[in-house]
This record gives sequence, C-alpha cells and structure tokens, in this order.
Amino acid sequence: MAVAERLCRYYQTWFSNPSPEADELVALHAQEDKAAYLEKYFHHEVEKGKMAVERFLGLNREWVGGRALDFGCGAGGLTFAIREQTRSALGIDLEEYKLSFARQQAELRGTTDIDFICYPGDRIPAADSAFDVVFCVDVMEHLPKPDESLAEIRRVLKPGGLLLLSFGPPWGHPHGKHTWTRLPGWWTHLLFPQSACMKTIGLPADTTWEQLGLHRLTVSKFERLMRASGFRQLYRQYNIQRPVKWLKHVPGVRDLFISEVVAVYRK
Ligand SMILES: C[S@@+](CC[C@H](N)C(=O)[O-])C[C@H]1O[C@@H](n2cnc3c(N)ncnc32)[C@H](O)[C@@H]1O
Repeated sequence: MAVAERLCRYYQTWFSNPSPEADELVALHAQEDKAAYLEKYFHHEVEKGKMAVERFLGLNREWVGGRALDFGCGAGGLTFAIREQTRSALGIDLEEYKLSFARQQAELRGTTDIDFICYPGDRIPAADSAFDVVFCVDVMEHLPKPDESLAEIRRVLKPGGLLLLSFGPPWGHPHGKHTWTRLPGWWTHLLFPQSACMKTIGLPADTTWEQLGLHRLTVSKFERLMRASGFRQLYRQYNIQRPVKWLKHVPGVRDLFISEVVAVYRK
C-alpha cells in the first residue's frame, strides 16, 4: 500500500462518522434492489424539503401561489413541499429511477399539478419564462457546468422571477467531499492526493471527484458564478459553526469553514 494511502487511512481513524444516517443510505444504495433505498431517501428528502420551504418562506413569500420548478429534484421530497405552497410544481432530474418513485408517490397521495421529468442535464424541458420561481437545493455543487445551468434556469424564469438556492457543504469545508461515512477525516480531500482518497473509499485509484458528482465548488467560485450569471442578489447567508463564526469575514480562510450557502436571487 502506498504511503499516501496508508496515511490517509490512518487519518480517518482520528474521526468518528458525523452522519450515521448517511451510513445507512450508502449501504442501501449499494444494494441491487433500490426500493428500500428510495423509501428511506424519500423520507429524508421530505423532512429536509419541509424545512427548506419553511426557511425560504421566511425570506420571501412572493412565489406563493406561482408556478415552480424544482431543479435537481431527486425523488421529489422537496417538490411535494413546494407544491403545497404553489399552483403547480415541476421536478426535473437526471435520474429516472428517482423520478418514477416520485410519480408513484404523487399518485398514492393524489397530488395534482405536479410532474417529474427526466432530462440529460442540458436544456431544461420548459419554455422561456415558464416559471415564477426555481428552487435549487443541494444541487449547485453537483453541476459539471454550473454557468450553463444557471443560464438555463434564467431562461425558464419569468422576468422578475425568483431563484431560491441553497447548497453545502462547499468544497473547501472539512466535509466538502460529501463522503461522511467512508472518509470522515476533516479536509481529507484537500490534504491527501485524490488517488489515496479513492483507494480509502474503496474505489479504483483513478476515480475522480467529478465522477462522484463533485465539481469542487468553493464559496469564492460560487460568488464569481453568480456575479457573471446576470441574477440580482436579494439575500445571501453563509452558515458557519459558532466558535469560528468570525472567520466568515476573512477572505480565503472563510472558504474552509462555511458549511452552507442560502440565497435568494431575482431575474
Ligand atoms: C443531493 S441531491 C438533492 C435532491 C433534492 N434537491 C433535495 O434537496 O432533496 C442532488 C440531485 O441533483 C441532481 N442533478 C445533478 N446534476 C443535475 C443537473 N444538471 N440537472 C438537474 N439535476 C441534477 C442529481 O441527480 C441529484 O438527484
């Protein structure tokens, strides 16, 4: 075993798993039959989705009663919470197996004016100015071409429409690698070579972070993207652990501690 991999494995033993729930989800996801995974994942999304909607309602209520797009909806947990506040809701995602689960849930619940569409991640399957609001929750850091996705989101929003966005942890955070279970060590992804991280996770050494759906989105990169996007910022909040809260004002260093970005933009 290479020295870097050995050190990386040893480093993990200093930390405990910060998310046993993620552990269970990872194990269920690895199984051939995805039914148990989807049940658990959907339940988790529903709880998270309710909280996200409550949070955005506290920031802005203009979108209530409008037409909503849930960009990167997963199995639709958030989309159902959005639909309770809007006239209609469309969820789009890359993964059909999650969307067919969401459609089944809509049927079981008798929810109307909700739809789920699978697309390949390029052109959003909707007309220009089709929506009053777009939700983008925990998706930004998974986008290979976030500038192009933002341009698409802008296209389908009506003039004056809202983008309600949150994501985290960003790449610079101790858990920016989103691999809580198998790589619990803080900043492992920044301290060790990619190959050592992948081997520690149990993947081939040449696996990239991008293949795992992580595109190294730091807070600074996010700010540059949003400045170039043409959206007007109405609100932005950076969440950070209380003992190091003051670091959020220190350029460069703050990228290493901010755990979540919450923001509201207007087209
Ligand atoms: C972490 S999940 C978040 C799901 C949901 N928004 C939530 O908050 O519960 C990220 C989702 O984004 C989707 N995704 C990744 N790239 C995308 C793209 N270009 N367009 C739409 N969805 C995308 C993934 O398939 C995945 O379901």
